[in-house]
Amino acid sequence: MKYALVTGASKGIGRAVAIQLARDGYYIIINYNSSKVGATKTLDEVQQVGSAGELMKFDVTDAGEVKVAFDGWAQNHAGEYIEVLVNNAGIRKDNLMMWMPEEDWHEVLNISLQGFFNVTQPLLKNMLAKKFGRIVNIASLSGIKGLPGQVNYAAAKGGLIAATKALALEIARKNVTVNAVAPGFISTDMTQGLDEKELSKNIPAGRFGTADEVASLVSFLVSKQASYITGEVISINGGLYT
Ligand code: NAI
Repeated sequence: MKYALVTGASKGIGRAVAIQLARDGYYIIINYNSSKVGATKTLDEVQQVGSAGELMKFDVTDAGEVKVAFDGWAQNHAGEYIEVLVNNAGIRKDNLMMWMPEEDWHEVLNISLQGFFNVTQPLLKNMLAKKFGRIVNIASLSGIKGLPGQVNYAAAKGGLIAATKALALEIARKNVTVNAVAPGFISTDMTQGLDEKELSKNIPAGRFGTADEVASLVSFLVSKQASYITGEVISINGGLYT
């Protein structure tokens, strides 16, 4: 059995990634924080495409909770390990910096960046020992280019990109790759409040992307065919920023 963990997999891009990796033959560990209903729907869809999975509840910002979840999993899976990790959990709390409440700065950074550390570090040991692993971090166009109103989000995703590059160099020899995916505008709950028609005028492809399109890219990056790609940031934005 090959195990893949997707954080924040109760909806949106996380759910699409979970389903695609299930199609690829992975057993999917579906992390969720609050929406058990959403996570259960993801599990249903994982089963519908012919694979299997389980729910794993934790808040990525809570290192203690993550540890308890991983320790419990390890007890039930002696000799096995999670070989694919997709750090997808993320939120945005947009505001001009001048008006940004300090807690919105911390919350956005905590989920994307501290969450990356909390979840990735405990899984590294086995990936290195087994000499195979794949880590994909869901960053953002905002983390490459910076977008107004997103100083917190850009800092979080920019930090995630830098961490991706540094970690990739640390562990490349062990056959563990670390890459980031940087989506532009993707149709999910996160972009629900935006004026899609108006914003699409500035996108060369003329539309928002889909969660399935992001999932296809993640699927390639975790595959054996992508063994020689590490420390990269792959944009998926319809030509919005190149
Ligand atoms: P979404 O809002 O549909 O999904 C976000 C997921 O993260 C949810 O399942 C949520 O429960 C989970 N999450 C939030 N806080 C968490 C926590 N503390 N612990 C565990 N899970 C937590 O949004 P979407 O669009 O699917 O976003 C997925 C990722 O893609 C995020 O990292 C986001 O920043 C990134 N992204 C999305 C873009 C878009 O246009 N939709 C563009 C660029 C990046």
